Amino acid sequence: MHYFSYKGNELHAEGVSLEALAREYGTPLYVYSKGTIIRHINAYKEAFCGSGGVLCFALKANPNGAILKLLAQEGAGADIVSGGELFRALKAGISPARIVYAGVGKTADEIAYALRKKILMFNVESGEELEMINEVAGGLRTKAPVALRVNPDVDPRTHPYISTGLKKYKFGMPIEDALEFYRKAAKMEHIQVRGIHQHIGSQLTEVAPFRDSLKKVLPLIERLRASGIGLTHLDIGGGLGIRYNKEEKDPPVPEELAGDLLPLIKRVPGLTVVVEPGRSIIGNAGVLLTKCLYRKKTGEKNFVIVDAGMNDLLRPSLYGSFHEILPARKNRRACQAADVVGPICESGDFLAKDRQLQAVRQGEILCVMGAGAYGHSMSSNYNSRPRAAEVMVDGKKHRLIRKRETYRDLVKGEL
Ligand code: LLP
Repeated sequence: MHYFSYKGNELHAEGVSLEALAREYGTPLYVYSKGTIIRHINAYKEAFCGSGGVLCFALKANPNGAILKLLAQEGAGADIVSGGELFRALKAGISPARIVYAGVGKTADEIAYALRKKILMFNVESGEELEMINEVAGGLRTKAPVALRVNPDVDPRTHPYISTGLKKYKFGMPIEDALEFYRKAAKMEHIQVRGIHQHIGSQLTEVAPFRDSLKKVLPLIERLRASGIGLTHLDIGGGLGIRYNKEEKDPPVPEELAGDLLPLIKRVPGLTVVVEPGRSIIGNAGVLLTKCLYRKKTGEKNFVIVDAGMNDLLRPSLYGSFHEILPARKNRRACQAADVVGPICESGDFLAKDRQLQAVRQGEILCVMGAGAYGHSMSSNYNSRPRAAEVMVDGKKHRLIRKRETYRDLVKGEL
């Protein structure tokens, strides 16, 4: 559910016309709906936090400070994968006691930073990383709280680039090696064994893979307890999908995920559940506005050339992802098939291929839907294009939450 809808012929974010926002702030422009974000946070809080769960927003989906502040005010924690994300989370007021830190390549500096800030736990992804954390914690005369990220070898049935839970991927440790890992960790002087972590992939559209993974992880927790290693935290990861294409069915909502998983988890008493959603909180709370610059026909193809490219929204080029594209203003022109492409000098630079769109004219605004997650956060300066501005809408109000970059910004670090 989101709060982008047509009022008459004009597409609105809550009470504000998207065409008016494009006029005021320019394009390409990311626009977020505050009401949608709050709705999604509440859905997670109701599903998981009533029973003491911890909601950790996956910053990689969207690390804008204004969005993080809003999440912090709503009581959310953070799932981070770098020192930079830790810096952003803390700056936005997220409590370190609600921060979990995953990723296969944490550096010693990043580990020390997170230890000094006293985060909830490191989700450790290898034996060598565990040794490094022990060493860094020793240097700081402290104990590092850790969870092992297990790789349960479960197929999340999603795009291979965003699958993580199969053995052939770099993430986590094989579940068969977990016992040995924990035994080693329990003996380390500067390690405090706290939990266990799974994250099997992203854009999951069914609950079954989560359940299949838990069915492997929960018996492991019981075995560990029987051998004297008591875990208190179970991090079930993120990964719940959203609907990008209205032809598809809606993925499960947090309530369904919790309804399915929590009864299973409760059979093992005394576990605090951590959940790490990114996309399902911010994905359909954001759109990308772009302006039609030119049209052309070549052979059999119609091209709509817009001012947003793969540097602004990489997902279609990288994963072949589908994003719905709607006109900011509906008209009665017939639909025709077109490729919506950007200005980047690559044939892989497209937002949509062979898409039936209402015939677009120069200067018209198109809205790329479901762009709130992994949109701006994956954008770049490729082709020396300044990154887009971001705006937050709240009812009838709107405000800039990130300035459009300038040409000077492009060269500011260069010597
Ligand atoms: N936790 C961990 C350890 C993760 O690696 C991720 C995402 C999440 C949580 C959040 O997953 P979500 O709830 O957002 O699915 N760029 C890709 C998605 C990459 C996801 C990486 N990890 C895309 O645009 O689809």
